[in-house]
Amino acid sequence: MRYYVEPDRNPNFDLRDGYKDRFVKRDESVKEKLDHILRWILTNKSRINSRATAASSCALDIDFVTWRGHLTKLLTTPYESREGWLLAVTKFRDTIYISEVETEAARRERENRTERHEEMTYWGYKFEQYACADDVHSLPDPGGVVNTNEAFCTVVRTRLADHRLLFSGEVDCRVKDPSAPAPPACYVELKTSAEICTPKQRSNFHRFKLLKWWAQSFLPGVPRVVAGFRDHEGVVVSMETFHISKMSQLIKNEYNCWKPTVCMNFCSDFLSFVKDVATENNPSVVYLFSWEPHRDVTYSVHRDSQYSFLPHWYVEEMSR
Ligand code: A3P
Ligand code: MG
Ligand code: MG
Repeated sequence: MRYYVEPDRNPNFDLRDGYKDRFVKRDESVKEKLDHILRWILTNKSRINSRATAASSCALDIDFVTWRGHLTKLLTTPYESREGWLLAVTKFRDTIYISEVETEAARRERENRTERHEEMTYWGYKFEQYACADDVHSLPDPGGVVNTNEAFCTVVRTRLADHRLLFSGEVDCRVKDPSAPAPPACYVELKTSAEICTPKQRSNFHRFKLLKWWAQSFLPGVPRVVAGFRDHEGVVVSMETFHISKMSQLIKNEYNCWKPTVCMNFCSDFLSFVKDVATENNPSVVYLFSWEPHRDVTYSVHRDSQYSFLPHWYVEEMSR
C-alpha cells in the first residue's frame, strides 16, 4: 500500500515521462479470474467462517464472492449504452461466485488498441507514481519504473439489501497521517481526466465520469477521489478532490442524470435473480449471464465447459 502525497494545485506533472522505457506492463491476456480472492479466503477461512454447524463446517457465511470491478459494472449498467458484459456464476457450498468473462467486443478492443490509447492508459498509472510514496517518510519517485503488475487490494465484507457480499478491490493509496481514520476511511482513489474547458465537457464529466468514479469507490467505502486534470499533451494542469458522499449533490443540476439508488436497486435485483437461477451446488456448473445495452439480461447453463473457473485446489481445500 502506498501513501498519498498531496500534489500542488497546478502540478505540471508530465504523464508521458517514462513511456515506454520505464514501463513494465501487465499481460492483460492472462485472466486470473477469482484466484487471488480464493487464495485469500483459504488463508483467512477462520476469520470469515462463523456458521459452525457439524454438517457444513466449511460453509462460508457469505452469499456472493466477486471482484469489486464486477460490482461496479453492475452498478453502472442502468446507464451504460456502449459496453455489455458476461458474468460466469458458480454455486458451491451455498456461496455464489461471480467471475467476469471477456466479451468478444472487449477482446477485439483490447487487441486493436491504438498506440495513442496504449500511451494514455499509461498516463493513469504515471499519475499514481507522482502522487504516491512507498513509505510514510519518503517522497514520490517520478524517476522510478511504473509497473502495472503491482497492486494492493482490500477485502470487504458488506451487505447490499439482503445480500451478504465478500469482494476485493484495488486501492491506490492511503493518507499518511498516523491519526487518520481506520480503513477504508483513510483510502484515496486517484484518477486522471481530460481538462474541462466548456459547459458541455463539464456536463459529460458529471454524467459519465463521476458515475464511474462513484460506483467504483462507493461499495468499498473509499471516501474520496483525487483527480488530476490533464491537457492533450498529457500534462496535469489542475487538481480537484471529489467526495463520494457529495457526488450525487454535485450532479443534481444535470438534466436526467444518474441516481445512486437506481444503480443499487439494479445491482441488488440482479443478485436476487442470480440467486433464483443458480440453484445447483456444483463447482463445474457455470451459469453464464449476459447483457448488452438496451437488452434484458439473459443466461445459459454450462457443465464441465471452458467457463468453469473454480480451481481444483480451492474446491478440494474447501471440501475437506
Ligand atoms: P485513470 O484512473 O487515471 O483513468 P484506477 O483508476 O481504477 O486505479 O486505474 C488506474 C489506471 O489504470 C487508470 O487511470 C487507467 O489508466 C488504467 N485503467 C483502469 N481501468 C482500465 C480499463 N478498463 N481499460 C484500460 N485502462 C484502464
Ligand atoms: Mg487503482
Ligand atoms: Mg485510480
